[in-house]
Amino acid sequence: MVRALHGRQAGRPGLTGTGTGTGTGTGRLGYRPAMFVDALVNLYTADIEAGLHFYGDLLGFAETFRTPAEGVPEHVELRVAGFTLGLGTVEAARRVHGVDPSPGSPAMVLVVWAEDVDGAFADLVAAGVPVVQPPHDAGNGNRSALLADPDGNLVEIVAKARPPAPDQAAPDPEAGADEGSGPDSTAVRVALWRARHLEVDGQPAVLEDRIGVALAAPDDGWRDRGDMHPVGTRGFRAAIVARARFVEDLVTEQVGLGVDQYVILGAGLDTFVQRRPEMASALAVFEVDQPGPQRWKRQRLVELGYGVPDWLALVPVDFEAGESWLAALAEAGFDRTRPAVVVSTGVSMYLTEEANVATLRQIAGLAPGSTLAMTFLLPAELLGEADRAGLAMAERGARASGTPFVSFYSPDRMLAVAREAGFADVRHVSGTALGDRYFTGRSDGLWPSTGEDLLVATT
Ligand SMILES: C[S@@+](CC[C@H](N)C(=O)[O-])C[C@H]1O[C@@H](n2cnc3c(N)ncnc32)[C@H](O)[C@@H]1O
Repeated sequence: MVRALHGRQAGRPGLTGTGTGTGTGTGRLGYRPAMFVDALVNLYTADIEAGLHFYGDLLGFAETFRTPAEGVPEHVELRVAGFTLGLGTVEAARRVHGVDPSPGSPAMVLVVWAEDVDGAFADLVAAGVPVVQPPHDAGNGNRSALLADPDGNLVEIVAKARPPAPDQAAPDPEAGADEGSGPDSTAVRVALWRARHLEVDGQPAVLEDRIGVALAAPDDGWRDRGDMHPVGTRGFRAAIVARARFVEDLVTEQVGLGVDQYVILGAGLDTFVQRRPEMASALAVFEVDQPGPQRWKRQRLVELGYGVPDWLALVPVDFEAGESWLAALAEAGFDRTRPAVVVSTGVSMYLTEEANVATLRQIAGLAPGSTLAMTFLLPAELLGEADRAGLAMAERGARASGTPFVSFYSPDRMLAVAREAGFADVRHVSGTALGDRYFTGRSDGLWPSTGEDLLVATT
């Protein structure tokens, strides 16, 4: 650490001894380690401007600190995914520490986890970054490429060989094969991510769902699936728990206002009824999904001992088959004269524009005081570089699995479509807003990827 260059740290609360960081217990060596409150890797560079171009402009790390503030800096800090990288000049190292580092001696490799190794590699090579080793299967389930930063330090770009993606990842030969054979693979994936959140992310949990994975009963090796990688897919995992938590908070709020009907469109492995029995039992809950997955879920609920209580109706409907899900709901006991809270997460992208519009119209026609929360995918041109690669991969995986993404909306268009459908009030909630609401101040740096936003509309 370059003490003299870290003036900002003097103001950090942890350094006064009030921090609650780890490392305070008595370790195996029988002494109490010092209380460390933060850490970073500092790279000494022969040309800090070139280093900034590489890590900031090309790799997209976000600058968080520099000194001096004016002119050519001698120390800069950049962050990516909870990790801090420092760049310091050789001159500063000599002046401050009396050491003479030689940048580029490859005694270390800086590893950056990517969503698409080949795509990132191609972009960086096109930008003139020197290649050390092109993308290759590294033999441990990883795909990896080695580049050199301007000082010659090794930079490895790595991802799980089977690329992950939100809701849809690598091609799934089971997907859509036989609708009577089991759950929808996209619904399983998000349920597994909710479970993984409790295993690999720090506290506090954004959402606690251990029942979805029990329903799915995946094979023993499920944690080794490429799309479950703790680092490579953390942004997707965070986005999935964020949207589920948002929905749960909305339902809680609406129940507080007296709403007692809850409709979950494309429910998949939703476990609200099992996790929140005290609230659910005071409601009429309607889960709508495709007939095959509904049959499977009913059977699993019985097998696990939850059963299907009186307050839960599993309503089998295919939104694309021209059936009226409202008629099916009414048959299952839904009262159209009373308000409802309706949610649809991770579904609209699989439906055609016609099916989405028809669904919105039907919800807009529900009793006054009804609320809809629906997620939608943003078109690629509205995403930043990093999230665009993730979306492209998701699209490829979805297509290969037979459940392609077919609908994308800009926030403005989503609001316009909802207004046109007849909602009295429409609101856009961005993925970033969910990040601010549920992830601010986390010590593990967990933050949702962007690409999926929410429409909240009321009748
Ligand atoms: C990604 S999962 C989301 C599940 C759940 N909403 C969640 O967030 O955990 C998508 C769900 O949409 C359902 N779905 C997709 N197309 C459908 C259609 N045409 N009719 C009914 N449900 C559909 C799938 O069966 C699946 O359960």
